[in-house]
Amino acid sequence: DLPERVTIWEVGPRDGLQNEQGTVATEDKAAFVRRLLAAGLPIVEATSFVHPRWVPQLADAAELMTSLVADLGDAARELPVLVPNERGLDRALELGLRHVAIFGSATETFAQRNLNRSLDEQFAMFEPTVRRAREAGMDVRAYVSMCFGDPWEGAVPVEQVVEVGRRLFDLGASQLSLGDTIGVGTAGHVRSLLRAFTTAGLGVEHLAVHFHDTYGQALANAYAALEEGVTTFDASAGGLGGCPYAESATGNLATEDLVWMLHGLGIGTGVDLAALTEASVWMAGRLGRPSPSRVVQAQSGA
Ligand code: HMG
Ligand code: MG
Repeated sequence: DLPERVTIWEVGPRDGLQNEQGTVATEDKAAFVRRLLAAGLPIVEATSFVHPRWVPQLADAAELMTSLVADLGDAARELPVLVPNERGLDRALELGLRHVAIFGSATETFAQRNLNRSLDEQFAMFEPTVRRAREAGMDVRAYVSMCFGDPWEGAVPVEQVVEVGRRLFDLGASQLSLGDTIGVGTAGHVRSLLRAFTTAGLGVEHLAVHFHDTYGQALANAYAALEEGVTTFDASAGGLGGCPYAESATGNLATEDLVWMLHGLGIGTGVDLAALTEASVWMAGRLGRPSPSRVVQAQSGA
């Protein structure tokens, strides 16, 4: 049976904008976050406290969060942000933020390219980060990237993903988000991976899925995950996104496309699709190119 309600974890302001070549003004990012919240999205991942040289587009993370706190008060401190290490955590702690996410890699090559660490070294970086975040009473999410394929290593064995995912989760995360960073996964692969996690003792109640739509499979993959019992889905408003350190990582699953499917299935999300579409059309205008989301195009007459 499909669930009556699911949680959408909106990643547009972070995963969506981190790869933008042009500059997006901090005030526009803040307005985007506010619009997404106003459209009913329950969780909006706002930015990353990574090295500004590695992701210049999110170099204004502190300014953005300060501006959101000024507007929204403590509610802004509940918005999740990415932190790769203790330095990132310290920056989040200084602002009193409550939710952080670490992001590990299932493959050796991507660990090096994205984190400047080996596969094993990444855990040494995350361990004190998660421990100190938990001691500070924060909630910690753990992402695992390249769960379905890697541009340098090709196919990634399910057992390898489960092992890395388990190790990340066991550091003290409340949820593990399984990322198809380059969008190569297909529905049967999603099913196998989710079942392998369940067999390893990490059930779907602890798992979220994070699809990119590079090969047009994101929605089919989301449906497969829904059938397997997953109830948290990452998506990016307007289908913005990509990872600067993964070749061929194009747009994320568009939140509008996901919402259209879920509402069609009678599954509640709390999202007002018209308001969400307006937010994405507005951001597309700021970025100077149309949203790739089919639902945004259809709904906005673009
Ligand atoms: P590094 O160069 O190895 O860092 O980078 P380091 O620990 O050697 O430190 C070097 C200098 O950087 C030091 O400064 C640190 O203080 C500073 P110095 O003493 O030389 O003056 N530094 C920092 N400054 C600000 N904020 C920080 C920070 N950390 C160190 N947090 C590091 C290692 C992890 C920092 C770097 O590789 C990095 O920032 N990587 C981020 C890459 C990234 O953001 N990628 C995109 C997100 S992942 C993704 O999109 C996938 C996902 O969507 C899921 C999916 O689709 O699969 C989540
Ligand atoms: Mg991503």
